[in-house]
Amino acid sequence: MLPKLGIDVRFADGDSPDDLATHIDEKTAGVFCESIGNPAGNIPDMAAIADMAHSHGVPVIVDNTVPTPALCRPVEFGCDIVLHSMTKYMGGHGNSIAGILVDGGIFDWEKHNERFYMFSTPEPSYHGVVFTDAMGPAAYIARARVVALRNTGSALSPFNAFLVLQGLQTLSLRMERHVDNAMAVAKHLESHEQVEWVTYPGLESSPYYELAQKYTDGKPAALLTFGIKGGFDAGVKFYDELKIFKRLVNIGDTKSLAAHPASTTHRQLTPEEQQAAGVTPETIRLCIGIEHIDDILEDIEQALAAAR
Ligand SMILES: Cc1ncc(COP(=O)(O)O)c(C=O)c1O
Repeated sequence: MLPKLGIDVRFADGDSPDDLATHIDEKTAGVFCESIGNPAGNIPDMAAIADMAHSHGVPVIVDNTVPTPALCRPVEFGCDIVLHSMTKYMGGHGNSIAGILVDGGIFDWEKHNERFYMFSTPEPSYHGVVFTDAMGPAAYIARARVVALRNTGSALSPFNAFLVLQGLQTLSLRMERHVDNAMAVAKHLESHEQVEWVTYPGLESSPYYELAQKYTDGKPAALLTFGIKGGFDAGVKFYDELKIFKRLVNIGDTKSLAAHPASTTHRQLTPEEQQAAGVTPETIRLCIGIEHIDDILEDIEQALAAAR
């Protein structure tokens, strides 16, 4: 979508500040990352990325959908703008599509007006307002609302807003249970003879364990992937046998969700294209819900047994 709007998007090879810095030039408008990557479970060092980006006069925009503000608050680590898909944990029940933008109000748009002239020069569609003069630290979010949102009409319906707000009331409670359950599942799978590998940043074996402590206090939400022994066929069998887990490509639902990308979302790609997208035949993605842990583990066990 963005290239069609004339916006060049560059993907870094890794999530280190150095990997990202090589892509910044005089036209770069922002550095974008996920606080916890879906589905890789990678955790970038956001504070270091913010320092790097700010030294180039560029803001950092963080997709904080996976941990939510209950577990991670990127603005506290120097990031400028945070967005969430409310479709996931924030709403929590998989009943609405929604999103929000949160402006930390810390980026100095006026100082960097060669890149961000739209905040510090008159806006013709809004009575010539200069957002940095009229709104100060709220310049970005004010413009997002009165220019982008107003002109595209991408506003949430009142009913969906109601559903999301009801979900939000239990966010902190739900996230505690999600994390407890995910930790138990990750440990169970890690020691399972039918499992080749597990990626969950809450596991000590994860290369992102330290960053999970730093950014989520050791509670990196409930999204994990694992490799089932037996490859593609075992993956299909496991996936088909799940009973409590919903076979659904959402994340962050109260209900436990599973996906087998190689036979579903990514099956139209060639094996090489799948590899390039990080999808291997044995990869199963789980997003652990808030059901009783005994029920979750029993379902995983019976599906693994069927895939043996
Ligand atoms: C991390 C993350 N951000 C954003 C989105 C997009 O969500 P939505 O469909 O609510 O726009 C997704 C969807 O999977 C996601 O996983």
